Amino acid sequence: MTQLFINIKELIQVRDLEVLKVSGTAMKILPTLKNAFLLVEDNTIIDYGLMQNAPNSIDNVIDCNGKMIFPTWVDSHTHIVFAGNREQEFVDRIKGLTYEEIANKGGGILNSAKKLQETSFEDLYQQSANRLEEVMTLGTGAIEIKSGYGLTVDAEIKMLSVIKKLKENYSIPIKSTFLGAHALPTEFKNNKQEYIDLIINEMLPKITKENLVDFIDIFCEKGYFSVEDTEQILEAAKKYGLRSKIHVNQFNSIGGIKIATKHNALSVDHLEILNDDDLHYLKNSETMPVALPSCSFFLGIPYTPARKIIDNGLPLALASDFNPGSTPSGNMNFVVAAACIKMKLTPEEAINAATINGAYALNISNKVGSITRGKLANFIITKEIPSYGFIPYSFGSNLIDSVFINGHKV
Ligand code: NIG
Ligand code: FE
Repeated sequence: MTQLFINIKELIQVRDLEVLKVSGTAMKILPTLKNAFLLVEDNTIIDYGLMQNAPNSIDNVIDCNGKMIFPTWVDSHTHIVFAGNREQEFVDRIKGLTYEEIANKGGGILNSAKKLQETSFEDLYQQSANRLEEVMTLGTGAIEIKSGYGLTVDAEIKMLSVIKKLKENYSIPIKSTFLGAHALPTEFKNNKQEYIDLIINEMLPKITKENLVDFIDIFCEKGYFSVEDTEQILEAAKKYGLRSKIHVNQFNSIGGIKIATKHNALSVDHLEILNDDDLHYLKNSETMPVALPSCSFFLGIPYTPARKIIDNGLPLALASDFNPGSTPSGNMNFVVAAACIKMKLTPEEAINAATINGAYALNISNKVGSITRGKLANFIITKEIPSYGFIPYSFGSNLIDSVFINGHKV
């Protein structure tokens, strides 16, 4: 089916297919086209241009008078497959406990793992599908989903199988990441190596054989997995050709970025604590730094020093981190607003970070992340807004009129 979108006030993020990411000062530039049209055939963008050049022989015309079109957000870091919630821990934090203290009491990731182990596949699938549908209506048009709340062979496979079923049932591009090394299960408390061996010798062979995984992740952090643990798992993952996306520098800088970049990680995510050595290794790499400002907002921890990253000529991607403990929200509109308000990104930088650079962090820049001939017709039609900067400015308002995925309205 051919559809023509006309009278677009401004078409945002119009780029050539060759642009896979933008870095440093280039992030300040957001290419747009005013008074434009967009032509979509089936699931693909086939043309765009100035309104005066719009084709006129098409039946299916959608008038976007006064509205803007953005590419959909690419959320390159989420944990949306989880069971139940942890609002009691939220209240405990309000009353003064820290995230670390809650985890040490058996809360945190282990609490979610227990809930997930006790939840049936069908129930887990339904809860996760509801979250996926929610974020799609909020403009997310490609997403990464991690495992890591299973922490046993069976429960990790259950999580990854839920992600597989979501991939089958929804047309939005989904990438699946194995995060077996998310926390140490209580039964391995005194023998971490035994759990790492389980990841390497049982989980990895099984999930790769069943084609359940696109990337590998490790929570490289004091009290979780050390740099040495991380390197062991990365070495093992290499045999299966898995690229990594690593949780690193959330609370401490312990050398994870050096190891991640050495292993050509696709992305390093969190980076709330970032020193000059870390920056040095990032500069000499192809690894995308990913900031998760909603996590900082919710936990009250420092924001990733995004200005420092970009002003050093590096790229930056923004993602939600949607999970039950540190970020119970997958709203990428809020992520973009928080990046501007709290991390001092300009709207241009934040929109680049949440679209094209997010696509790079999932290795799908050839499919999504910009309005480009040949890419998927995944885009947001806004309500009538005065400028694209109105999106982060009016944080908390829903400015989305409709979302199209693969050329179909969600
Ligand atoms: O990205 N930091 C590790 N993992 C998640 C939080 C996990 C949880 O608290 O359930 C994160 O913040
Ligand atoms: Fe995370």
